[in-house]
Amino acid sequence: MKKSINILGVTGSVGQSTADVILSAPERFEVMTLSAHRNVDKLADMAVKLDAQRAVIADESRLDALKVRLEGTGIASSGGQEALEEAAAEPCDITVAAIVGMAGLRPIIQAVRHSKAVAIANKEPLVSAGPLVIAEAAKHRTALLPVDSEHNAIFQVFEPENRLQIEKLILTASGGPFRTWDRADMARATPQQALAHPNWSMGAKISVDSATMMNKALEVIEAHYLFDMPPEKIEILVHPQSVVHSMVEYADGSVLAQMGASDMRTPLAQALAWPERMKTPGRTLDLQAMSRLTFEPCDMEKFPATAHAYTALEAGPYACIALNAANEVAVDAFLATRIGFFAIMESVEHILAGLRSETLRTLDDIIRFDHSVREATAAYIDRKAGELKKEIKAVP
Ligand SMILES: NC(=O)c1ccc[n+]([C@@H]2O[C@H](COP(=O)([O-])OP(=O)(O)OC[C@H]3O[C@@H](n4cnc5c(N)ncnc54)[C@H](OP(=O)(O)O)[C@@H]3O)[C@@H](O)[C@H]2O)c1
Repeated sequence: MKKSINILGVTGSVGQSTADVILSAPERFEVMTLSAHRNVDKLADMAVKLDAQRAVIADESRLDALKVRLEGTGIASSGGQEALEEAAAEPCDITVAAIVGMAGLRPIIQAVRHSKAVAIANKEPLVSAGPLVIAEAAKHRTALLPVDSEHNAIFQVFEPENRLQIEKLILTASGGPFRTWDRADMARATPQQALAHPNWSMGAKISVDSATMMNKALEVIEAHYLFDMPPEKIEILVHPQSVVHSMVEYADGSVLAQMGASDMRTPLAQALAWPERMKTPGRTLDLQAMSRLTFEPCDMEKFPATAHAYTALEAGPYACIALNAANEVAVDAFLATRIGFFAIMESVEHILAGLRSETLRTLDDIIRFDHSVREATAAYIDRKAGELKKEIKAVP
């Protein structure tokens, strides 16, 4: 029996790796719906290649162009936010959530309600609405399959029946492109330099997050929700080679690790075939070619984002939402060269410092609060843009 599959965000880096895995084993999968934000050409190409039933473009103004591109193919098309949510609500065996940012939250909630399993790469909605996503999954008996390589690694070595004997989850981090840079050079870092990740080829937002190590901060929060582990049992360990993707340490001293090439097609193949296994079309590990694997502590002073994850978790879900929302806005501003590299964290810290505790119960509460933080961050950046840009030139 083929697995029916929806891919949200097929035109992105994770979406393309997902398509590779599916195309390598067409006998295993039947593609239902594919989505993108604005990239009509790639979406239409992928829909034809993957023999999809439907293509959805989130930006409704591009729907006419999509219709033209799909004419004569028999592939249905739709556009706009509502269409995206409707598509995500289409029942299927597995949905791959590969949209970037909080834009993926409503579609993920729909997928969790209507798919048998959701393979989640899109970490921001988990960071901001983890308790809600987990509760919906429990209510609808939907399997949540982590695709983020660290969480996928933990998922593979996590023994739920021995959860009380788990000493800690160890999230490995490459350290990003600036691990060995000094602060003066980091202050002047350009988007191009921040995007040049040493090990992984990824979308722009997560690449900048790797450079600030906000990516690891988001992953600490993601791990807390996905594996129901207290923050003090989640550790970050810098491992520049990105071979060991994460580990679980048990009370008897055993440390179970998952290893693999730095290629998203491995966690995706694991999630798509789960609970079976399938062959990856990606790179595999050549242990003999590897001279050494190294591990070092995370420098939380140099990369303060990592410390903010723990502070936000201690404060509560509202602080995790704010951390994520402020970061998304600041990363956009950095990529648009409106602010310098250090101003990303300065913007996030400004927002965190001004927060008051909020109780957010519903999806609408979360989205409303997320919007208010975005507005406050954008206003801060507007006020400070000129001043902050000087940081690019200044040596701290
Ligand atoms: N890349 C990795 O290796 C990796 C690893 C682990 C986790 N992740 C996580 O996976 C997610 C995707 O990352 P990525 O690197 O694949 O990102 P990406 O390359 O930027 O792709 C993002 C995808 O989301 C779509 N999209 C963007 N904004 C949207 C919106 N407002 N509404 C609907 N769709 C929208 C894009 O469509 P268009 O192409 O039309 O813009 C594209 O298909 C992120 O949350 C990231 O943190 C990524």
